[in-house]
Amino acid sequence: MFTDVLIIGTGISGLSFAIKLAQNDPGISITLISKDQVSEGNTKYAQGGIAVVSDFEKDSFKKHIQDTLLAGDGTCDREVVKFVVEEGKDRLKELIKWGSQFDTQQENLHLVKEGGHSEKRVVHYKDHTGLHIQQVLVNKIKSFNNIKILENHTLVDLITDHHSKEKYKRCYGAYVISKEEESILKISSKITALCTGGAGSLYAHSTNPPIATGDGLGAAYRAKVHMDKLPYVQFHPTALYHKVNGNTFLITEAVRGAGGKLRNSLGECFMDNYDPRKELAPRDIVARAIQKEIQKQKEKFVYLDSCNIDSKTWKNRFPKIYQTCSKLDIHLPQDFIPVVPAAHYFCGGIKVNTKSESNLKGLYAIGECSATGLHGANRLASNSLLEALVFSHRAALDTIDSLKKKLPDSLFYEALPEWNGDSYSNSVEIKEIHQLRFRLQEVMSLHVGIFKTTKGLKKADLEMIEIYKKIQKIYNQHKLTNGLCELRNMVSIAHLIIQQAQSITINKGVFFNQDYA
Ligand code: SIN
Repeated sequence: MFTDVLIIGTGISGLSFAIKLAQNDPGISITLISKDQVSEGNTKYAQGGIAVVSDFEKDSFKKHIQDTLLAGDGTCDREVVKFVVEEGKDRLKELIKWGSQFDTQQENLHLVKEGGHSEKRVVHYKDHTGLHIQQVLVNKIKSFNNIKILENHTLVDLITDHHSKEKYKRCYGAYVISKEEESILKISSKITALCTGGAGSLYAHSTNPPIATGDGLGAAYRAKVHMDKLPYVQFHPTALYHKVNGNTFLITEAVRGAGGKLRNSLGECFMDNYDPRKELAPRDIVARAIQKEIQKQKEKFVYLDSCNIDSKTWKNRFPKIYQTCSKLDIHLPQDFIPVVPAAHYFCGGIKVNTKSESNLKGLYAIGECSATGLHGANRLASNSLLEALVFSHRAALDTIDSLKKKLPDSLFYEALPEWNGDSYSNSVEIKEIHQLRFRLQEVMSLHVGIFKTTKGLKKADLEMIEIYKKIQKIYNQHKLTNGLCELRNMVSIAHLIIQQAQSITINKGVFFNQDYA
């Protein structure tokens, strides 16, 4: 199969990138790969919203820039922060033009405050902004004849010079699993974009769906693409302690923005002891404070007390959380919500330039799988959807330009080899895969979580090498399966995080080694 542009991942980054390209030129062919259904992915679970300066009487670009730099703990790229903040408004307008709605109050956008923000500036759609945006973009994408969507396809590897006789130092597409056809397809392309999100599934508790296994990061790593800040994994302070349908459920920061207070098992409000901004300090600070309180008490969670948010606000503003809690017999606002920190967001990833292109020509990385320089060591709340919109726009402009340039001809793409690795099977059930995935998550959660130690990292390193060896053995004995493919990516990224974490000697943002405190 050949396509002008191959986009892997169908969250806000992949979909908005595709829309922009398709709108610009109905003559180019675009193929979108989705690991599950096109609607599944991290975007769908984003509750809070998009941080965009829109009330210029109270707020300013300068304040949003300052908040982003402060949250990033002095490690953000200032130029990137500046243009992302300034371009946000136009990208939001576009999203609204495509059909997205945001809550309003007296005909103005309803703005909320989240951790680390000095002003109310997060635009939202109730408490399920991501789900709403995802639905709008999926509908929009279906209106283009030049976009082909392949659901249930998993990225295996990128096609690079390594696979070709000619050497252009480019990416030429990817090998992907087609679950339906039980085979591995070669999809060659002039431009390839990874929009594959992070790897929250490396941890036992993550706000990401289970498919967030770092497939794009793993493939880029094998292709020797530059990575940056991988050990900076952000934990969201408040995930519901109880699992919902087997998954971790987020309680948006906006609940704290609306007045929610954190209490320990003795009922004491404790954030005052950690930061003058209390519940609305940046995420790294709040997550560490909660973890410290949990270590001091018997219970494995703290409470989010929302008694000062009235019932009407709960039902209108946070309907999904309200209903979810109610099903668990937690009646809001009078009952306290048991919450724990959970792995939430990869601040680092594939290093890209200001147009979202990696060091491998023709390979773009957009959204969570990329490291743009915006987040530094700790992402400011609701800056992720903003980054995805700004960088998918910039990547689209650059791609349009690149497609006009002289690129390898069609004979070259035809000559690229078909997948010649292991054959693929849907039906093989490899029991050890579940056990190894579970063990990997245990090791990461125990030693590579919010608090790290040098000894713990060393232990994790040795354990991960053992897990890797076992995976290799399975690899040599079985056909490739989806689970095996995921586990191969998970172990590579886990290993890389641990390796890099061991060389960090200064604590910044979400990275905290107790031996350097
Ligand atoms: C939240 O709603 O608290 C999460 C939003 C984000 O990750 O920025």
